[in-house]
Amino acid sequence: MTSTSPPPSLDRDRVRELFDLRGPHMALSGGCYDGDPYPAWHRLRERAEVHPGVVHELTGYDQPAYFAGLPFPDRPHYSAFSFAACDTAYRNPEIFASSPVPVDPNTGDLNPLNSMLSMGGAQHRRYRTLVQPSFMPAKAAWWIRNWIAETVAQLIDGFVGDGRAELNVDFCAAIPVLTITGSFGVPVSEALDIRAALRDPRALVDKLAPIVAARREHPRDDLISVLVAAELTGEDGKPQRLTDAEIYSFAILLLTAGSGTTWKQMGIVLTALLQRPDVLAAVEADRTLLRPAVDEAVRWLPTDPMFSRYVTRDSDFHGVALPEGAVVHLCLGAANRDPARWELPDEYDITRKPRPSFGFGSGAHACLGMHLARAEITTGVNALLDRLPNLRLDPDTEPPRFIGMYERGATEIHVRFG
Ligand code: HEM
Repeated sequence: MTSTSPPPSLDRDRVRELFDLRGPHMALSGGCYDGDPYPAWHRLRERAEVHPGVVHELTGYDQPAYFAGLPFPDRPHYSAFSFAACDTAYRNPEIFASSPVPVDPNTGDLNPLNSMLSMGGAQHRRYRTLVQPSFMPAKAAWWIRNWIAETVAQLIDGFVGDGRAELNVDFCAAIPVLTITGSFGVPVSEALDIRAALRDPRALVDKLAPIVAARREHPRDDLISVLVAAELTGEDGKPQRLTDAEIYSFAILLLTAGSGTTWKQMGIVLTALLQRPDVLAAVEADRTLLRPAVDEAVRWLPTDPMFSRYVTRDSDFHGVALPEGAVVHLCLGAANRDPARWELPDEYDITRKPRPSFGFGSGAHACLGMHLARAEITTGVNALLDRLPNLRLDPDTEPPRFIGMYERGATEIHVRFG
């Protein structure tokens, strides 16, 4: 974003409609669930590492809930609740595949699952290697400088004079969507159209196609320019580049994988800190604690607590005989609180010794955007702490709660400051 770009004047009501955990967008992933699933997940893990059945039903949620891996009614389903079982699946992607069917973005099928998220083996490596350079830790500064810092500053400008704000939708939700659409070269005024177009991916392609064509002619300092230029030498010795269809598929994946997740995880970090004023004060005084505060939140309450895999051959899996064709749901939320790996796992403790959790996944498909997500969350929270003195939950409003089954997040986060 340059200094001449307009301020992010987002239509707040439209943001609320698009980013309402209980609204129609999220209802299908269990947005109406407002219990705490962790006691049930502990009980399940204590009985067995792996159970027949699907996570939400085993948790006691009887409404329909869908996510990648569901429903597939004609396949047997199993759910894994221990760290060790999820680790086994992540380490053996040839048995625990990310898709039940071959994946090919060049068919023009714009389903976000028809992307690298679902690929395996050499096909997945090719895609990942082409796009990975833009998402390495060293690139975080590029994202912050070009898109994140200015978005964050302008959003805070919008409420800094009010003494109060709602941070979940008016701040956290807006940052990732403006970051990703900004990196596509889409102006802020059209950012929400892009998000809404996820319901109709053809409309998204109509918006992206002229940008991709323009960047092929005249590259700029943005992500689409990097993607059109990315080149690898293939096994045949010939240079390989992403086709337009592959770029559209990747753009759709980034919007689905990178905007809702980061929004909700940022709200979870803020809620965890605001609920613990002593921890918030410690982070405010020593900003190096912010990174562990983020990573501990990703362990303690990952926004997407379940991902699924498809069994490619009969296998013994932590005491359960899995038939070929079965779907295994990895309950990352439960694995991240496995007492075999973490002491007092239900505590949000930013001083614990860092150990990788599964909040960003693991193995070949570990979250491509994790460094970008951390950059967005730390830039956002740092700026709030810099500019809003005495930041605290608003005592006159309902305090935030965590809701959702397969997409978890906080309800409204009303704060006061000054
Ligand atoms: C805090 C926010 C985020 C969380 C908690 C999160 C979580 C995850 C998880 C658990 C996976 C693994 C899925 C699996 O095992 O099948 C994943 C994959 C992925 N994430 Fe994220 N994610 C976040 C933010 C982002 C962002 C900001 C982007 C990019 C803009 C992104 C892009 C991706 C992509 C492309 C993959 C697929 C990688 C592959 O298949 O190789 N994510 N994410």
